[in-house]
Parts: sequence; structure tokens; C-alpha cells
Amino acid sequence: MNKINLPQAAKLTSPNPVTVVCTEKPDGSTNLATVSWWTYLSFNPNMIAFAMAKTSYSGERVRENKKVIVTIPGAEIAEAVMGCGSTTGRNTDKETKFGIEFVEVEGSTIKIPHHSRVAIQCSLKEYHETGDHYLYICDVEQVYGDETEEALFAWNGYSQLRPAK
Ligand SMILES: Cc1cc2nc3c(=O)[nH]c(=O)nc-3n(C[C@H](O)[C@H](O)[C@H](O)COP(=O)(O)O)c2cc1C
Repeated sequence: MNKINLPQAAKLTSPNPVTVVCTEKPDGSTNLATVSWWTYLSFNPNMIAFAMAKTSYSGERVRENKKVIVTIPGAEIAEAVMGCGSTTGRNTDKETKFGIEFVEVEGSTIKIPHHSRVAIQCSLKEYHETGDHYLYICDVEQVYGDETEEALFAWNGYSQLRPAK
């Protein structure tokens, strides 16, 4: 084997998972950010975690509201999901810019993209500093699924989004 760095390893592990982290902005609208670094943590109780750069607007929203919905995006919104991963909700209304169709989630003021295969509704339990990211550890409140949507994955590291098959 050859010595490589971690970003090179991320290319070798492709296809990598992709989520869309949905949070509420102060005006009540929903912000979306593309996040590959997530994991299931526990099935009893149900817990997940994801890591976001310290500078991300979504992280700020999660730390303030303590609420977040993590979705697995469907293949039909690949282009919009890539766009959500290269713009910040600090100065961009991503819903309008990328023409994303939202649906409401029962018991939440956060909306999610209509084309989602899975949606995991969470409350923030705690977060920890991990280098240049924060790791957000969440309690799962509700889970939704739609097997007719084909999940997106990140290929060639994080540069392309398409299904795994
Ligand atoms: C395929 C892909 C995967 C990404 N994964 C992550 C991630 O795991 N963590 C992270 O902090 N940013 C990740 N990003 C970058 C964020 O989506 C990007 O910084 C975004 O602008 C954050 O938006 P926000 O400021 O509205 O939260 C990813 C981007 C792409 C395209």
C-alpha cells in the first residue's frame, strides 16, 4: 500500500453517503446544506451524528434551535443538492435559487425536499469540537422513508452526485 492523505482516502471510499441537513432560519424558511459526514450511532435509543465545518450556517442554526432534519436526497434533485453544498444560507435563499420543492413534516416547522428517500427528524443532544468541524450528536424523534426515491451518493470524493448503481 502507498501512504496517502485523508482527502485521497475519501476518494478511494467513494461512493460516499450524502445527506441534506435541513434547518430553520430566523424568518421561518428552511436552509439546506449537503453533508456527507454522517453516521448512525445507536438504535436503542435512536441516535445519529453528523459533522459540519465550524463556519457553516447550518451548524449555527442547529446550535441555536436544537432542531434539525437530516434527509437522504433522491436522485432527481442531484443538481440542487450539489448547489446546496457550494452556497451558504447566510446570504442565499437556496429554496428559490435551486427551485427546490418542499414538503411539510408533521410536528416540525422545518420543511424537507419533496424528493427525499429518508428523513430523520432530530433534536440536538450535544456537540463537540473536532478539529475544524463540530460533531453534532442527535436524538432521533421520528423517521420517514420513501423507497420509490433512489438515494444519491457522492462519487470521486465529493465532486459528483449520482445513485450507487
Ligand atoms: C457532496 C458534498 C458533501 C459535503 N459534505 C460536507 C460535510 O460532511 N460537512 C460539511 O461541513 N460540509 C460539507 N459539504 C460542504 C457544505 O455543504 C457547504 O459548506 C455549504 O455551503 C454549507 O452551507 P451552509 O453554510 O448554508 O450551512 C459538502 C458539500 C458537498 C458538495
